[in-house]
Amino acid sequence: MTDTFSKMPSANTELWEPRYAARAARMQASEIRELLKLLDQPDIISFAGGIPDPALFPVEAVSKAYLDVLSDKVQASRVLQYSISEGDPALRAWIVDHMASRGVACAAGNILITNGSQQGLEFLGRLLLSPKDTALVEAPTYLGALQAFSSNEPRYDTLHLGQTNRTPDSYRRAAMDAGGEVKFAYVVPDFSNPSGETLPLDGRHDLLALAMDLDIPIIEDAAYAALRYDGVDLAPLQALDIASVGSINASRVIYCGTFSKTLTPGLRIGWICASEQLIARLILIKQASDLNSAAINQAVLLRLAETLYEEQVSKARIHYRAKRDAMLAALAAYMPDSVTWTQPEGGLFVWVTLPPDINTSALLKRAVSQARVAFVPGHAFFTDGTGTNTMRLSFSLPDIASITQGVQRLSELIRNDPT
Ligand SMILES: Cc1ncc(COP(=O)(O)O)c(C=O)c1O
Repeated sequence: MTDTFSKMPSANTELWEPRYAARAARMQASEIRELLKLLDQPDIISFAGGIPDPALFPVEAVSKAYLDVLSDKVQASRVLQYSISEGDPALRAWIVDHMASRGVACAAGNILITNGSQQGLEFLGRLLLSPKDTALVEAPTYLGALQAFSSNEPRYDTLHLGQTNRTPDSYRRAAMDAGGEVKFAYVVPDFSNPSGETLPLDGRHDLLALAMDLDIPIIEDAAYAALRYDGVDLAPLQALDIASVGSINASRVIYCGTFSKTLTPGLRIGWICASEQLIARLILIKQASDLNSAAINQAVLLRLAETLYEEQVSKARIHYRAKRDAMLAALAAYMPDSVTWTQPEGGLFVWVTLPPDINTSALLKRAVSQARVAFVPGHAFFTDGTGTNTMRLSFSLPDIASITQGVQRLSELIRNDPT
């Protein structure tokens, strides 16, 4: 014990850096999460955090559900115990019905309960990606998915749909040149984080056709799918695929769902819905990772889902629709003509594109120090180094007056930008 450690320099980085596995080099701090730590000052209007509005949390119902579950002796000893890795059968049965309401016919054996959909993404990266393999992702894409996948040392290629010169062969060849294969396409088809955009029906069919040609799975991240404020619901990619291949067990689509945006992220409950074969392998990863999601949280979540899922979703839709409308109205009223933005039909985000010479990372510093308003620079959501003139605005947390005021301040700053 006198050997290596005693010879090592005392600075923390030098002590530990040389000892990490190669994959740790790809584990970078999220720019956004680091940024969020700085924004706790009360006079800043923040459009940065993409988290649900706590005003919507069903606090009393959660508290009552914990009490109910624990006041019954049999239930209490069950939910305070270890549990099966695939998740509470009753909760999985509820999810089976929920998936049916989205057009996905499945059974309990198609569902794995995860600690939020984030854990589902991490498991899928671990199961499907070897170093140098290619993951196809949108530009921009969800930063948390990149974090979940990156420790497997993949390469990213940008998924292009519709009018594009990318052919299936070009994806295949580029992946081979990088020393691996195209392993999956990852998409957030409904009200995406960060863009707010929705993949239209023909885009969904194009993606399924591309995936069939490349013979790859699609990871469908449905985190925001329930939060639609106008327009009509579109079928999940998984439902469209099942309609063509006949059953979920033959489907190439892996659906990641979550209760975080509808009920609460605090219980950390999400799910993967996929073919039984894939779920069987994922259960082994769940076992190795954390044995099971907290049984008590699954029991509480089930009570919430059974008693107030629809009510919560309706409340959230009304609540966020008003905020989205306020943000879009303020953008239209105050932003200079050179600025464009998306028109999300749901979710929590508007994606803003500024003139190419404005760097939003630099702008953020001035926005916080001069205008007391914050956003997330868009650059971090791209895997190819582009997007430096873009930003993500979330309307979920500020009240309506602050949304209007914050957009007005930001617009003035952009108008007067020295670059
Ligand atoms: C697109 C998307 N997917 C997945 C997640 C992870 O959510 P959770 O793990 O709480 O289900 C988020 C969280 O912000 C998200 O925006």
